[in-house]
Amino acid sequence: MNILVVGGAGYIGSHVAGELLDRGHNVTVFDNLSSGLRENLLPGAAFIHGDILRYEQLRRALAETGAEAVVYLAALKAVGESMISPEKYSVNNITGTINLLNAAAETGFKYLIFSSSAAVYGEPVYLPIDEKHPANPENYYGFTKLEIERFLGWYDRLKGIRCASLRYFNAAGYDPRGRIRGLEQNPANLIPVIMETACGKRGELCIFGDDYDTPDGTCIRDYIHVSDLASAHALALDFISGNDRSITVNLGSESGSSVLEVLEGARRITGKPIPSRVTGRRPGDPARLTASAALAGELLGWKAEYSDLETLIRTSWDAYRAN
Ligand code: UD1
Repeated sequence: MNILVVGGAGYIGSHVAGELLDRGHNVTVFDNLSSGLRENLLPGAAFIHGDILRYEQLRRALAETGAEAVVYLAALKAVGESMISPEKYSVNNITGTINLLNAAAETGFKYLIFSSSAAVYGEPVYLPIDEKHPANPENYYGFTKLEIERFLGWYDRLKGIRCASLRYFNAAGYDPRGRIRGLEQNPANLIPVIMETACGKRGELCIFGDDYDTPDGTCIRDYIHVSDLASAHALALDFISGNDRSITVNLGSESGSSVLEVLEGARRITGKPIPSRVTGRRPGDPARLTASAALAGELLGWKAEYSDLETLIRTSWDAYRAN
């Protein structure tokens, strides 16, 4: 299939582009390189330097590549920043999506794979979280993801655009085959922050609270390897095109790790001291988040393969060490 990967030079997008190439698709990466990196462009993928906020550039890219499907991973994702600068998130995430959907209606691509997030659920009312869990986002980032899912629902009904909304839990790790080496710039997520501390780029890890109602007092998250996310994108595209219907599924490993477990694992695997200090809680952090990924298993035949803590940390460290 001819596929436009919007945001394909970014951290998750480059892994997805690699997976689609491996499966024999024709891949064009469309990226404004605001956070994506040229070094993440894989041999075999064409590249268009463009911005989804510039409608004409987007429309032309879709028409020129004859895109039949779009994988859409170009969005802002820093939860804290979204609460301070919601306008950036409104424009990048919501306006960007509307441009894409309108361009779909104009150029005729039929399939869209969308990077949604577990942030749509908000504070969990039960665990593990399945797709029937109420969606009450606690931050503006999660709100944009939920709104976008609703737009997708309407364009499915009105324009026949079939979408897979993939609700990622905590994406982490790097390509086990070492093809993607571009590191995220100014990361705010736990594992890259730990890696930067291990490399000496940061002085210490701030642990955001150790008085939660969890066994060691630190928050528990469901970390999912980016290569597992990538395979789910390819399978989701097969599913929505083969069945001519839209889906919304969770992507998580179904196991939880605490901040301290991740930190201890990283100290062991890297052999570095990784200094840390407990600071106050970060507003809006639920104590525990774990996924039920049963629906992705059932519909897509998908299963996480690389999402054990050892592989998550080891593949991250390989990428950071290589830099
Ligand atoms: C959040 C979203 C998630 C989204 C992701 C994208 C929520 C509830 N979750 O994940 O859906 O996909 O952002 O960025 O909105 N931590 C530290 N020190 C640090 C960094 C993190 O202790 O320097 C802790 C956090 O308090 C948290 C855990 O590590 O308990 C993971 O944090 P992070 O990697 O930022 O992801 P989430 O906030 O869980």
